[in-house]
Amino acid sequence: RRSSVAALLASQELDREVLVKGWVRTRRGNKFVQFIAVNDGSTIHSIQVVANAETFPEEKLKAEGVENGAAVAIRGTLVASQGKGQTVEIQATDIEVYGAADTTTYPLQKKGHTLEFLREIAHLRPRTNTFGAVLRLRHALAFAVHQYFNDNGFFYVHTPIITGSDAEGAGQMFRVTTLPEQNPPLNEAGQVDYGQDFFGKATNLTVSGQLEGEIAAMALGKVYTFGPTFRAENSNTARHLAEFWMIEPEMAFYDLQDNMDLAEDFLKYLVRYALEKCQDDLKFLTEHYDKELLTRLQFVVDNDFQRLTYTEAVDILKSAKQKFEFPVDWGTDLQSEHERYLVEKHFKKPVILTNYPKDIKAFYMKLDEDGRTVRAMDVLFPGIGEIIGGSQREENLEKLQQRMQEMHVPEEDLWWYLDLRRFGSAPHAGFGLGFERLVLFVTGMANIRDVIPFPRFPRSAEF
Ligand code: 4AD
Ligand code: MG
Repeated sequence: RRSSVAALLASQELDREVLVKGWVRTRRGNKFVQFIAVNDGSTIHSIQVVANAETFPEEKLKAEGVENGAAVAIRGTLVASQGKGQTVEIQATDIEVYGAADTTTYPLQKKGHTLEFLREIAHLRPRTNTFGAVLRLRHALAFAVHQYFNDNGFFYVHTPIITGSDAEGAGQMFRVTTLPEQNPPLNEAGQVDYGQDFFGKATNLTVSGQLEGEIAAMALGKVYTFGPTFRAENSNTARHLAEFWMIEPEMAFYDLQDNMDLAEDFLKYLVRYALEKCQDDLKFLTEHYDKELLTRLQFVVDNDFQRLTYTEAVDILKSAKQKFEFPVDWGTDLQSEHERYLVEKHFKKPVILTNYPKDIKAFYMKLDEDGRTVRAMDVLFPGIGEIIGGSQREENLEKLQQRMQEMHVPEEDLWWYLDLRRFGSAPHAGFGLGFERLVLFVTGMANIRDVIPFPRFPRSAEF
């Protein structure tokens, strides 16, 4: 029976026959003995296979293609290892090659590659230690999201990807069109005319599942969505993707305070989960990319987030000694340099900013008594800036209609959303956590394109 490398490395049961299947990472040795490192993705570690030259002369291994990149099956005896950095190894009795990889053309050489180079070979980069670690962490965090909500009485709802509404009212949408099957219309340049709507109705890829999440919260109480979202923002930054995954809890009878408490507890749970379950991968990333990573993660788990209003933050930024590229003025949106100043220089801990000016936030946020600000909250993280955006929602029909008018959000598109305020309306709140920003923070990677298997950004169409 086949064992995973992870199971073998953790095994106490020695001197038994084992079978392992994976990919060769390195082969080295001399004319007496050959060492083959095999990785199967179950862990960052490879298992060392020792091949005695009497049975496996180097020439034979070479001829059969037992080289970096080859897929192999190894049978042998699991024994204690004399080598440093490993407790067990396999004394090989049989080596089978499923598929060789030509060492002269295989793009992944033993030497380290730059992340930029690896981005160009997204079909092979999962085979590197770095992307193996990132993908295992991504999995663990996604699993922890469901675990947390399930344990806390939330229901997972599936919201649509194709939708007629613009949840954020920001107009950053990808249009969905249907191509006619026959005789596609051609434009003047002779190209296919893609200007057809979705069976006659204008629709787009969703920018957020929130509005549909509110429908579910008004029936099930506490719900969340976790799905792909799309933003047609033509920004080439290390924090933005055109397609990203968002986690959006929505809770009936929650106010802004409850919302902040949930966001902080949730983020701490996720980071703690990774610290507990992904120790080897985090250790690797800490050693290779970011010496402060583990310290920073532990710090987030152990300390309260700083909570203050947007207005208080503007005052702090205005009296800061640091020169900013963009000026700070009450009423303008904060830039990432301002957010990072507050988190990294001023408070030196995660920050939750609340009560932003209504004009820079979405139409659905609950108006404050002063009539100028709304019950918004942004959670800001070191190295990231905004990781969560959320708010208490406007539950009053007239006030919501007024905000929609002021912000030119057409009522006829959102009649069903207004119905939620007509029939059994209640205070409610929610937020959106950008999943890739979370993975970015937990892995310590610098670019969001390196924490999703197939990043979508302007001019990325290869995969
Ligand atoms: O602040 P945003 O736009 O909020 C919403 O979409 C609300 N409907 C959420 C809610 O209240 N249910 O986005 C939420 C989060 C951001 O804080 C950020 O982490 C992430 O989504 N995000 C992006 N991540 C990657 N690439 C982009 N282009 C992103 N835009 C937003
Ligand atoms: Mg936001």
